[in-house]
Amino acid sequence: MKILVLYSSQTGTTQEIAKFMAQELVKAGHQADLMQVDKAKNLNAYDAMIIGAPVYIGKWKADAQTFVKDHANILKEIPHAYFMVGTSFNGKASPAEMRAILAKVREISPPVSEGKFMGRLDYSRLNFFQRTISRLVKAPEGDFRDWDAIRKWTLDTLGLFQRS
Ligand SMILES: Cc1cc2nc3c(=O)[nH]c(=O)nc-3n(C[C@H](O)[C@H](O)[C@H](O)COP(=O)(O)O)c2cc1C
Repeated sequence: MKILVLYSSQTGTTQEIAKFMAQELVKAGHQADLMQVDKAKNLNAYDAMIIGAPVYIGKWKADAQTFVKDHANILKEIPHAYFMVGTSFNGKASPAEMRAILAKVREISPPVSEGKFMGRLDYSRLNFFQRTISRLVKAPEGDFRDWDAIRKWTLDTLGLFQRS
C-alpha cells in the first residue's frame, strides 16, 4: 500500500511519532510518505492516510482539524486513521474527555482507527504563554512516549487499512 502519514506538531513530539510510524510502515513492506498537514499534496495518490496532531488545552491542534474539514470529500474515499498526542492520557483525562477531543473530525469523516499516545513536555520548547500555563498547572516535564504502543497501533491500523 501507499500510505501518507500527516502530522501537525508544535514542539516536534508528534512529528517524531509520525516519522516513526512511516518507518514502521516501510519496514512492514509498504510505501509511506511523511508530510506536515498544511503542506499535504497529491492526496489521490494514496491508498490510506494517517493524520496525527497534539492536544493543546483540550483541542486537537487546529490545522489538523482544518485539514479534515477541507478534505472531507477525499477522506470519504480513502481509509484513514486519526491519532492524538497529549500528556493526560495516563488516567488523568476521563474516557469522555478523550472521546470529545476527536468528536468533530470523527463526525466529518469517521476513521478506521483512533490512537492516543502519551507525548512529551519540554518547557524549553514552549513559548512564553505555554510555559506560563504549564508552570501554573505544575505540568510535569518529561518524555512519556511509549514506542511499543505506537508501533502496535500503527501495525494494527495497517491491518484495518488492508481490510477496508
Ligand atoms: C499549554 C499546553 C497545553 C496542553 N494541553 C493539553 C491537554 O489539554 N491535554 C493533553 O493531553 N495534553 C496537553 N498538553 C501536552 C501536549 O499535548 C504535549 O506536550 C505534546 O506532546 C506536544 O506535542 P508536539 O510537540 O507535537 O506539539 C499541553 C501542553 C501545553 C504546553
